[in-house]
Amino acid sequence: MAKAVRFFVLNTGAKIPSVGLGTWQSDPGAVSAAVTAAIKIGYRHIDCAQAYGNEKEVGSALQKLFSEGVVKREDLWITSKLRCHDHAPEDVPKALDRTLENLQLNHLDIYLIHWPVSLRKGSVGLKPENLTQPDIPSTWKAMEALYHSGKARAIGVSNFSSKKLGDLLDIVEVPPAVNQVECHPYWQQGKLREFCKSRGVHLSGYSPLGSPGTGSIKSDILKNPVIATIAEKLGKSPAQVALRWGLQMGHSVLPKSTNEARIKENSDVFDWSIPNDLFCKFSELPQVKLIKGTGFVHETLGAYKTVEELWDGEV
Ligand code: A2P
Repeated sequence: MAKAVRFFVLNTGAKIPSVGLGTWQSDPGAVSAAVTAAIKIGYRHIDCAQAYGNEKEVGSALQKLFSEGVVKREDLWITSKLRCHDHAPEDVPKALDRTLENLQLNHLDIYLIHWPVSLRKGSVGLKPENLTQPDIPSTWKAMEALYHSGKARAIGVSNFSSKKLGDLLDIVEVPPAVNQVECHPYWQQGKLREFCKSRGVHLSGYSPLGSPGTGSIKSDILKNPVIATIAEKLGKSPAQVALRWGLQMGHSVLPKSTNEARIKENSDVFDWSIPNDLFCKFSELPQVKLIKGTGFVHETLGAYKTVEELWDGEV
């Protein structure tokens, strides 16, 4: 019988639910219904970010669910992320307050630095001239203050390479609890996974299905014949197999969907498992990074000249 991996324990001692609803690219008009459906189905983790432009609608859905007694705040895990525009230490608490106001909450379960990239305060659009030099140690100090205030019960990072995470760990008072990164069968994050494990940082996987809905991304994970064969053998869908692979690898997964049937499908990943003889087939899959952050690199502006520099070669 499969081990139920409903939670992972973070370095703070908190338990992060292992499946969270992703909200990146969920239209503001659709996200409330998605959050409501997910929580009624049994999700207890919602992954948000100010940059997704839909936190207000997530907040309205949460408020309604609390007032109707469907779920209690203390039974939910809410993640959000600091925008690249708000890295200046004085802007960090204001950014969190804005997110809390939009989500109608008085604390987050975890607040992450969204990218190791800074954009000019108040700038609009991802143009090279808006890129500035990040100062991650100063931003992190401000994140630590939020942790001490209790408004963020844990703090962490997102899109950090092993090198950037290691540099941060060298100077912290409060270590990051999570590094949320792209992770799926086509980008298994072997090196970063080992590094995170060795330093007690939990890896959380975004785009766990390979973001099939992102037009610019040519991902066919859900059509891959190896995954399709495993799915057929187990009587599951390719999406469920991709998510279950993530859980068995030891990371939390954040599938995005605004479709109720698929939200439900993506939560049915606990009372079965991929046996070893099929699990080892994942090591045969091609490795392709889908989300490269090309908009964050420039020959002369900002901190990174190339995607190799942004990811310190993990690309
Ligand atoms: P939709 O919102 O219409 O369900 P990722 O989480 O890797 O970024 O993938 C999200 C994309 O995958 C969205 O386009 C979403 O579309 C789609 N998706 C989510 N769940 C499933 C599923 N179970 N089967 C197929 N596609 C899915």
